[in-house]
Amino acid sequence: MNVLMISPGFPAEMPLFTRGLAEVGARVYGIGDGPLAGLPERARTSLSGYLRVENLWDEDAVVREVREWVRGHGIERVECLWEPGVVLAARLREALDVPGMRVEQATAFRDKEVMKQVLDRAGVRTPKHRRGRTVEECRAAAEELGYPLIVKPIAGAGSADTYPVRNDSDLEEALELTRHVPEVSVEEFIEGEEYTYDTVCSRGEILFHNVAWYRPKPLVARLNPWISSQAICLRDAEAPEMKAGRALGESVLQALGFETGFTHMEWFRTPSGEAVFGEIGARAPGARLVHAMNYSCDLDLFAGWAEAVCFGSLSQDTTKRYNTGLIFKRAIGEGTIQRYEGLDAILAQHGEHVCNIELVPIGHPRRDWRKVVVGDGWLVVRHPNLETTLEIANKLVADFRIVAG
Ligand SMILES: Nc1ncnc2c1ncn2[C@@H]1O[C@H](COP(=O)(O)OP(=O)(O)OP(=O)(O)O)[C@@H](O)[C@H]1O
Ligand SMILES: [Mg+2]
Repeated sequence: MNVLMISPGFPAEMPLFTRGLAEVGARVYGIGDGPLAGLPERARTSLSGYLRVENLWDEDAVVREVREWVRGHGIERVECLWEPGVVLAARLREALDVPGMRVEQATAFRDKEVMKQVLDRAGVRTPKHRRGRTVEECRAAAEELGYPLIVKPIAGAGSADTYPVRNDSDLEEALELTRHVPEVSVEEFIEGEEYTYDTVCSRGEILFHNVAWYRPKPLVARLNPWISSQAICLRDAEAPEMKAGRALGESVLQALGFETGFTHMEWFRTPSGEAVFGEIGARAPGARLVHAMNYSCDLDLFAGWAEAVCFGSLSQDTTKRYNTGLIFKRAIGEGTIQRYEGLDAILAQHGEHVCNIELVPIGHPRRDWRKVVVGDGWLVVRHPNLETTLEIANKLVADFRIVAG
């Protein structure tokens, strides 16, 4: 099985997926615009070949270069788990006549307006929405939909340039702040808790699914720099409160005709228990959520995804054994990390349940929370009981402080 992997070294999880492909026996050919020597070792040692292109986002040129490069290699899959490359992967599949998602379908995963139009036609509950290309279009959309609203990029990531809008003056402010964004979605604001629904599929069959609970909503974390946020992978994704979300996820995959690979959907659970669609990517989630899923089942979904993509099965045991809490710490203060406070006491009491601690070392500069979701460090706690998981996660958020100065 010869697989073309777009951007095998970036973002952080890509070397693990690249290695997963090699582990299940694929020959992996990487494409990127950096030098081979600059790839993380895990990615480099898993590749059977690497093509450095001029510019990964010049799709016409990339298609030309790749077509030339792979001639005679018998490429059977083209994969990309990085959001901006999802359509490029589809273009390459079309050009090389490789099975998998085509451009039209991939676009429905990238363009948030197209996405919701397809889902609306299938009867899926999406927030009311309009495309806004100009200030006038946005004002007209607000007039029509009414407040509260959300203004966000059509092809966004990391909650960047996303603003809640509760009145006319919020709207004008949001329009000012999103001036550099070519196109926005103006959407009905959905109150409630926010969850993910993630899957690994093969030929339309869901081989693995995961529900994670964001605490708080990503937008709240984005707008409040002091918040250290959590994502909890639920052991019991079959719980009655999650039923509507799972059903929503299944109907979304069906409406978009998703066949094979990872998906990452976000959805809202309103106070009345209704599940409302948020967005979906035809890729794995970032921000260590795949690690959290691995910890919740003691499996390796980097290789599991690779097996599904190459051979149509996921042979590892996918039984969920734990609730898994991911905690992203943001330091207090600016400058250099000075000390950690309170961690030892938490570990003395709960250490056996804390399975990962990766912090910015003392003496290093604190990170820019706008750019790095994992912030100044990430920890993982897991426990079969949800209440206990939340209790320890809350302590790691509130009683453990990373102090910068
Ligand atoms: N219609 C809505 N109602 C309420 N909150 C919303 C709505 N749309 C977006 N949000 C909030 O803004 C966040 C970012 O929006 P969205 O997920 O669409 O964009 P993104 O930037 O692509 O996301 P990601 O952070 O997953 O890359 C959501 O996680 C949610 O917290
Ligand atoms: Mg999102």
